[in-house]
Amino acid sequence: MGRLSIQDILEEIEKKINTNMDDLNAKASHMTKDGVYDCNSYDWWTSGFWPGMLWVMYEMTGKDKYKNAAWDFDEKIETLYLLENRFHHDVGFQFLPTAVIKYKITGDEDARRRGLFAANFLAGRFNIAGKFIRAWNQVDKIGWSIIDTCMNLSLLFWASAESGDPRFKHIAVAHADTVIRDFIREDGSVKHVVCFDPETGEVVDENGGQGYGPGSSWSRGQAWAIYGMANCYKSTGDIKYLKASIKVAKYFISCLPEDNIAYWDFRLPSNIGEPRDTSAAACAASGMLEIAECLSKEEGLIYKNWAEKILFSLTENYSTFNKPEEEGILTSATSNKPGNVGINVSLIYGDYFFIEGISKLLGWKRSIF
Ligand code: GLY
Repeated sequence: MGRLSIQDILEEIEKKINTNMDDLNAKASHMTKDGVYDCNSYDWWTSGFWPGMLWVMYEMTGKDKYKNAAWDFDEKIETLYLLENRFHHDVGFQFLPTAVIKYKITGDEDARRRGLFAANFLAGRFNIAGKFIRAWNQVDKIGWSIIDTCMNLSLLFWASAESGDPRFKHIAVAHADTVIRDFIREDGSVKHVVCFDPETGEVVDENGGQGYGPGSSWSRGQAWAIYGMANCYKSTGDIKYLKASIKVAKYFISCLPEDNIAYWDFRLPSNIGEPRDTSAAACAASGMLEIAECLSKEEGLIYKNWAEKILFSLTENYSTFNKPEEEGILTSATSNKPGNVGINVSLIYGDYFFIEGISKLLGWKRSIF
């Protein structure tokens, strides 16, 4: 696909959303199989991204059909809280693009309550000894923390601002400091999993997680860090978080191949035949636009330019605008290569961050994350 204007890209996105709205609105999707998005339970960590896309489209177009389609998702997700204990640290990914944005846009009090409830749950996962938020629920992973969590911290910052109770913010800051100390390496690369002794709080191990292995550099993990650290700066004004975000962004940019779209890990023995991860690209681009907003116009230009290069490459080389059979918007995303799950597919969060990035380029300021 040749070069479109940013407005044209949004129009293509809107066409895609309209075509698939009935199907995607009836399920909680994660990845495509043969071009069609799968259907998961609403407690799955990706359940917020489709409604998030709808809320962004509502903001960008003012069309009520997007707001109406997104409306019920926070209630659907909340309902599962009452049934089973299947939620974990990703309540930020689930409630920021549903309950919290719904409350911010519409003032709906039930949405506010749901957002605060989710923040309480997330705060309850904090390990005081290790100063980290526990990621997953398995008993053998009580001391595991993952880089992805830094994208969930905005839920805590929001809850403090909304409730007037600084405890949520204190926990977010403590976790963010742990990210800087224990996840981000000197060269700007980032670990996916750090294992703490849950009793003493000491670091006992590093785990490759969804990356190639210990010591590697899972590209989506770098994207979570770029965006999450920039968010921490926006919420606290503490420059160390912006510096951390920029450090990882510089590393990310230095690792990009010719078309500017990341491979699934930046430290593979060889890239030959290895899949890309367009979701990492989209998330990193949207995170770089946050960095640009935090800097002066002149200083921020380099990150804005990189975000544009990535978003245009995604459009030209990896979008499905000319593929009506595909429900996803971006091809060539990789969910979990070591687990052999979701390789060269569309991922709902890749599509979400692409839409978000394009909307930011068009002036959309109300960040969901
Ligand atoms: N948060 C899980 C992932 O990025 O795949």
